[in-house]
Amino acid sequence: MSKKVILNTSEVVTCSGFEAKAGKAMMHIIPIKNGAILIDKGYITMVGTENEVLEAINLDDYEVVDAKGNTVMPGFVDSHTHFIFGGYRAEEFSWRLRGDSYMDIMERGGGIVSSVKATRESTLEELVAVGDKRLDSMIRFGVTTVEGKSGYGLDMETEIKQLEAMRILKEKRKDINIATTFLGPHAVEKQYKGREDDFIDFQINEVLPIVAQKNLAEFADIFCEKNVFTIDQSRRFLLAAKKLGLRLKIHADEIVQLGGAELAAELGAVSADHLLQASDFGISQLAAKKVIATLLPGTAFSLKEAYADARKMIDSHCAVALSTDLNPGSCFTNSIPLIIALAALHMNMRIEEIITALTINGAAALSREQETGSIDVGKQADIIILDFPSYHFLPYHMGMNIVKTVIKSGNIVAEN
Ligand code: NIG
Ligand code: FE
Repeated sequence: MSKKVILNTSEVVTCSGFEAKAGKAMMHIIPIKNGAILIDKGYITMVGTENEVLEAINLDDYEVVDAKGNTVMPGFVDSHTHFIFGGYRAEEFSWRLRGDSYMDIMERGGGIVSSVKATRESTLEELVAVGDKRLDSMIRFGVTTVEGKSGYGLDMETEIKQLEAMRILKEKRKDINIATTFLGPHAVEKQYKGREDDFIDFQINEVLPIVAQKNLAEFADIFCEKNVFTIDQSRRFLLAAKKLGLRLKIHADEIVQLGGAELAAELGAVSADHLLQASDFGISQLAAKKVIATLLPGTAFSLKEAYADARKMIDSHCAVALSTDLNPGSCFTNSIPLIIALAALHMNMRIEEIITALTINGAAALSREQETGSIDVGKQADIIILDFPSYHFLPYHMGMNIVKTVIKSGNIVAEN
């Protein structure tokens, strides 16, 4: 039956809204006690109390989804991941436990470049297969929309191969929505060491036009960081991408305060990501220019760095999103419960703010705030049912996956 009704909820946490929520508005998750939801052809057609909804319909026309007295809320949006890559870097993790830093390992030829080697050696089919598996795992955590980046190719062939893998997955998988990002300037290729400007030229003149022409990416991104790409190089690349119609993201102020946040605001990026070291001025610029501050606490945790100052950003009226940053090096996790725990216990975020950051603000970080990220009439029915009767169980059950049922565009796609 294409018509469904979700009944018997304790609450429907709607997160209602069609734009990112900034500052104090992040607290507004707008729950409806004993709410119910109507779905037709994959879209939400009514949201209200159970009484209101039952009065409006002939129940015989609907397939009933019984929430069994539990919380219903929007599916999570994981708006920053690098889920397509070859190989693993497990030994690097152990080197870091021994005291080596992420940048030390990168400078001596490990890090991103080692994943580049493994990704170049992987076939398209192999990348699709590992991506497929990783998507399965994300869905079980309640993720209904995910972003994936290239950036483990650096050369033309492999960058395109990574993006092609995501295009294939996008067509194949109707149980999760995938947004694609071109991250060609993710590291400096060995042959370009000391000639970073030439590498940026290569990305701008050779790779970017093909990516745009084949319509392989919605967003462009760059690792703007000391000893990787400078502010000027980042500006040059991102402006070229913007000209070709891509929207902008930036790995900004992760390890050193370079002014990546300021650059994101200057260029009207959709999001600035990481921001562990963002300056006060940079934060105020993000708020003023409505750039989403995407925070990735798993990475700070994994690198044993100080967390991004979410409190200051929210109090400065930024719209904050949270995401996993799943990647083979700095943060190998796609665990939403881990992100919730870190944001709650180490970033002083309130659970309502965390929910906003993982739903409507994540959707806005992928320019999908009109289509998903909240339970509103007209949006895709991307919905999860928890195993407990209150959203307060999300941080309380630390690191535990309490998502019971996952619904993508009206279809049940996972039952834990
Ligand atoms: O978002 N910071 C740069 N890029 C990734 C890490 C990539 C890797 O280590 O493989 C990140 O943390
Ligand atoms: Fe990243």
